[in-house]
Amino acid sequence: MTEKTTNQAIGIFDSGIGGLTVLKEIMNLLCGENIVYLGDTARVPYGTKSRRTVRKYAESNSNFLLSKNIKLLVVACNTASAYAIEMLKENLTIPVVGVVEPGARRALELTVKGKIGIIGTQATIKSSSYEKKLRQICSFPIDIYSKPCPLFVPLAEEGWENDETTFLVAEKYLAELKKSEIDVLILGCTHYPILKNTIARVMGEEIRLVDSAEETAKQTERILRTRGLLREGSKTRDISFYLTDDSETFTSIASRFLGRPMEKTEVVDIV
Ligand code: DGL
Repeated sequence: MTEKTTNQAIGIFDSGIGGLTVLKEIMNLLCGENIVYLGDTARVPYGTKSRRTVRKYAESNSNFLLSKNIKLLVVACNTASAYAIEMLKENLTIPVVGVVEPGARRALELTVKGKIGIIGTQATIKSSSYEKKLRQICSFPIDIYSKPCPLFVPLAEEGWENDETTFLVAEKYLAELKKSEIDVLILGCTHYPILKNTIARVMGEEIRLVDSAEETAKQTERILRTRGLLREGSKTRDISFYLTDDSETFTSIASRFLGRPMEKTEVVDIV
């Protein structure tokens, strides 16, 4: 593969800050890669929108990232993965990685009791995409319990990850799941790992929380390696951030979450 190709960036999109959880893992695992991140802050949240709308957003986000000449696309959003991953895989000529399958695989590795909980946006839970994927790849009987937690997205976007309000909301949302004797809980929305401490506080330490970010990064690495697209041995790299609307919250949460001062973000119009 030519140097020109390996130098092309990995494109990542989410409706807002959620994809930063995936970006962070990719940055850690793939230290030499150039990355372009798009946060669709003008249209967040996705989780309350219809399949048709989310697919339209996923398409325009991908087109924008393709215009940046990316070599691989990571859909760092469960809602967009649930509704649009097949369409993107069919339509794009570059590899596309979603977050649902890596999360489902990790949950199956971790469960001992075969009782798995899933929390996500209304759209992700309604799509049953985790449930279908778990049943498709699982070779033993499992019980699945799901619960949409729509308020978690604005709470994360607000930066209230450790606020008492978030704890109270989490207690209310997760009460039924706690009674169901699950041993693994899939955080089926990329915003939710930002609230991980609070969710863990409510669920108790015996419940394993699955955050697909780490598994998604591993899958990205596998695909790049197999296709000879890995950028290795370089000491410098570019990370560019694009937003569809100006958002100070994005910048402050991003620098806190990534543990480093933020590169400049550029606001873009996408259609
Ligand atoms: N972070 C996204 C997800 O994983 C989207 C949340 C939203 O915009 O509602 O579903």
